[in-house]
Amino acid sequence: MRSPDESKSGNTSQVPRITEPVQDPKHVYPPPPPFLKDVHYGLGYYPPTEEVRKVTLEKTLTYLKLQQSNFLGYQVNQKMDYEHDIAPYLNMHVNNVGDSFVDGGLTTNSKLMERAVLDYYASLWNAKWPHDKRDGETYWGFSLTMGSTEANMYAMWNARDYLDGKVLLWEETPDRHIIPSTAADLLRPRLVLRQAPLPMCNPNAYTPVAFYSEDTHYSFAKAMRLIAIKTFYELGMERYPKDCPLPEWRAKGRWPEEVPSEGGGGGEGMIDITALKALVEFFAAKGYPILVSFNYGSTFKGAYDNVQEAGKQLMPIMKRYHLDERLVEYSPGLFDKRTGFWIHVDGALGAAYMPFIEMAHERDPKLIPETGPVFDFLLPFVHSISMSGHKWVGSPMPCGIFMSKTKYQLSPPSRPEYVGSPDTTFAGSRNGLSPIILWHQLSQLSNEDQMKKAKANEAMAQYAYHKLRGLE
Ligand SMILES: Cc1ncc(COP(=O)(O)O)c(C=O)c1O
Repeated sequence: MRSPDESKSGNTSQVPRITEPVQDPKHVYPPPPPFLKDVHYGLGYYPPTEEVRKVTLEKTLTYLKLQQSNFLGYQVNQKMDYEHDIAPYLNMHVNNVGDSFVDGGLTTNSKLMERAVLDYYASLWNAKWPHDKRDGETYWGFSLTMGSTEANMYAMWNARDYLDGKVLLWEETPDRHIIPSTAADLLRPRLVLRQAPLPMCNPNAYTPVAFYSEDTHYSFAKAMRLIAIKTFYELGMERYPKDCPLPEWRAKGRWPEEVPSEGGGGGEGMIDITALKALVEFFAAKGYPILVSFNYGSTFKGAYDNVQEAGKQLMPIMKRYHLDERLVEYSPGLFDKRTGFWIHVDGALGAAYMPFIEMAHERDPKLIPETGPVFDFLLPFVHSISMSGHKWVGSPMPCGIFMSKTKYQLSPPSRPEYVGSPDTTFAGSRNGLSPIILWHQLSQLSNEDQMKKAKANEAMAQYAYHKLRGLE
């Protein structure tokens, strides 16, 4: 490796391994907050002195503590106390690579805690549990490395592949003929791609079309692009530009970009079920499979879509156009039965919280007069739910849960044998600290405690609301 002295002397006989900056980063990057103005962050060929490092770490910590106590405006829980119990876990690499229910070869994992946390939410969300790969009705899920963005992306990917005719992982259904192993299977290929051919009678049968409201988090627009799913807007503008079923939009010769929310931008943020129904029916009638994502706690307005009512109104449409159950046929006589729709619930904000408000409401309706609509696996049409752990629960890093049902799992596209655990999740390496953090929190709280916390939260929100109204 070239030393700085060699570099200065122009000795270029060795390959350079580092470059010099073309200008001082301080003049290019956003200026630091005044408190950190003189703090040294630069790294390079030689590390900063121990003294400089110490000052940098101390000042950064002081700054973040100040922000932690004063900052408002993001829905993250900053109240936590992990220092004592979690610190020892920081000196090891904990990685839950692979399926949450198969240990695999990387033994510094926290999958025992991950399963306990998943079971906890399965129970809270009225899923059939524990996960049992022989029972398609039981839940399946995993703990995230990112926040709910990861769960939403995974849900959209799972939904797309489910609706566009990829092969399911779960093969033990009485309705399904098990596809015999092919020679390629026996060779265990790295890339596994099995796709049902498009039925002659319906060219749209495997083109899922997505619907979500204008109050939906930006992660969905990103997921649509990344996972190449067409929204009703894109398909509508591309193939049926003049035919939008919503009269006010048809008059403009356009489609709305997202499903309107009740009362528009100035409303409370719940999806307009009448508009959703009209849009869904338009595409269902043309044979497209339907993908709907609901918000359970929207980013800016905290709106809870009425998942139960929307489902009640959408299911007759699914039935009418044979999307309630359809055969996906891989080759003559080899098929499975699955729904021609997927309903996802983005519960990043509300899915870990509202169940306790519901419990408190049932206990004392006078004290907690309102609760959110039913959104979970009690509703048979719900396929998947996402939740962020750093929001209501509280965690030093983004984390959360994706949950679906065993029968909806897709055969993963690759088989990395060295992991020793199926590649059924989104990431490869998965943050093993997150389940420890979530377990740590949940293992200290009874449902009574959670109800108390949720009620205090409601009271705090009321207080803040009135104070802000006062300032207005
Ligand atoms: C409703 C909703 N969904 C999804 C997300 C994405 O979650 P994360 O930032 O944890 O990835 C957020 C984030 O605020 C959100 O408010």
